[in-house]
Amino acid sequence: MTTPKTLSFVHRFESGTDPAQPPLLLLHGTGGDESDLLPLGRSLAPGASLLSPRGPVLENGMPRFFRRLAEGVFDEADLRRRAGDLADFIAEARAAYGIAAPVALGFSNGANIAAAMLLLRPEALAGAVLLRPMVPLSDVPAADLAGTPVLILSGSADPIVPEENARRLADQLGRAGAEVEHAVLPAGHGLTKDDIVRVEGWLRRRQPGDQNAFL
Ligand code: MLT
Repeated sequence: MTTPKTLSFVHRFESGTDPAQPPLLLLHGTGGDESDLLPLGRSLAPGASLLSPRGPVLENGMPRFFRRLAEGVFDEADLRRRAGDLADFIAEARAAYGIAAPVALGFSNGANIAAAMLLLRPEALAGAVLLRPMVPLSDVPAADLAGTPVLILSGSADPIVPEENARRLADQLGRAGAEVEHAVLPAGHGLTKDDIVRVEGWLRRRQPGDQNAFL
């Protein structure tokens, strides 16, 4: 456990024991906070540093990373601004804690801001695991994501994200050059054991020294 520095986002930071592993940027879902995904991050990547910000927007008291007009209908101007703020926070945290570009691990609202950041500020992330994401922006930015690994896990029975929408996001990121792996699991919006097993496998295939390792 490391005492967090005062940066532009409320956050928690846990220093890793293996500096060769990329840090994980943990992005919670609506109503979560900076503590939510720490246990999951620690079990998925035992040696990695963990950086976990709290979404700065409140919706009926529930933290989020950007405003929405209705479920699945985003305030895109706010999303663009907040994705920039989060990318700036990552740069601050990298300088403050001396860490490399992180791999995002985002769930739902956290996955959506990670997807927006990949398209708007591709330099901020070394890769991303997007759990139950959807297309974040109707006007797709032209990003260069050459070689950036992205894992997308969707649920075939997700009442919030239609399968077609998740496939469109995978396509957008792939066209920008990302190395996208997309699986549709027999699941709803919530995470299942299958999600965890697949994320573990994907991260393991990218250990330092492996030909698929993060840059
Ligand atoms: C969002 O607002 O990002 C999506 O609707 C997912 C959610 O947080 O419910």
